[in-house]
Amino acid sequence: MTLAAFPAGVSLVASGAATPACSVSNDQLSLWLDTSDDWIRSRTGIGARRIAGPGESLTALAAAAGRQALERAGWDPASVDLVLLATSTPDDLFGSAPQVQALVGATGAVAFDLTAACSGFLFGLVTASQYLRCGAAQRVLLIGADQLSRWLDWQDRSTCVLFGDGAGALALEACPAIEDGLLGFRLASDGRRSDCLRLPQRDGRQELQPGISPQEGGFSPLQMNGQEVYKFAVREVPAVLKALLAETGTEAAAIDWLLLHQANQRILDAVAERLGLPAERVLSNLAAYGNTSAATIPLMLHEAVSDGRVRPGQLIASSGFGAGLSWGAALMRWRGPATA
Ligand code: UT7
Repeated sequence: MTLAAFPAGVSLVASGAATPACSVSNDQLSLWLDTSDDWIRSRTGIGARRIAGPGESLTALAAAAGRQALERAGWDPASVDLVLLATSTPDDLFGSAPQVQALVGATGAVAFDLTAACSGFLFGLVTASQYLRCGAAQRVLLIGADQLSRWLDWQDRSTCVLFGDGAGALALEACPAIEDGLLGFRLASDGRRSDCLRLPQRDGRQELQPGISPQEGGFSPLQMNGQEVYKFAVREVPAVLKALLAETGTEAAAIDWLLLHQANQRILDAVAERLGLPAERVLSNLAAYGNTSAATIPLMLHEAVSDGRVRPGQLIASSGFGAGLSWGAALMRWRGPATA
């Protein structure tokens, strides 16, 4: 990777997605949990979620999503400079991005993981944009992928019904500043509230010798104070979006699509209401996938680009939020692949 000598804009060129084959409905969950389709739908909007099976590793899903974004962009994989994988559930704690880089054939790229839970894709987008703007990269493959199904307590109805597995990807390219597709962003973290949503290291030590007892690796299942996270989301997400709109001189009415982290339909509705946006402009696929953590935003974007809802030139206001606590917003303009 070498530095080019000009500042650049960022183009959102093409998307991709991959989800596991196995879809599990709310009714199926109620076979072993004291829950119901009515409770889950009315409280969250979730109807089903995908759960990764054999052969559907995080790496495989991320690579499938990435490959599709590269194909849609019409790029030679070898032309990619950076593969950035936003995930909290890598197959390898040393990082899964290099394996994804190899699988997609991005032989010239540097690859690394970025962990920011459900805000990961948004944090990744901003990180990728810095590489593109300073000229360190011309092309970036950004992937948001998570497989939280392996870190859930499947007997805990307050958490396991909410999450699913998936991957989404975005091909990003440097462009002239005048064509910039990332109009602004704001990111925030507050570690003082990290106990609201955690996937902590498990307790446990092995004593090798008296006084020598290294901790054993492994994590406890995801823990969440749902009400606190809910209150945090409906307070911070409208606030960060409003601040971003003010900063960029954008009227809410100019937003074509509100693309939020898909955690709960009630959060999407509350944020839209506070911004004065009608329900038709809110993208939601919670019913089919639930909360796929770092994958929700690119998975939703890919669906809306593929079915023609999101069109070239449209303005998208996006916000991610979750563990950390972390949150942020980005104002983007969709470009789409260059036409010959
Ligand atoms: O990506 C990370 C971001 N995460 C989020 O954004 C999550 C934000 N939080 C939420 O979406 C909501 O707080 C939840 C969907 C998690 C929970 O909804 P809630 O309206 O806050 O429910 P609650 O936790 O107050 O629970 C209400 C009742 C309780 O029973 P009691 O104590 O009133 O008898 C729960 O035990 O619902 C019960 N309950 C369930 N009942 C049936 C909790 N989970 C379930 C369930 N099925 N799955």
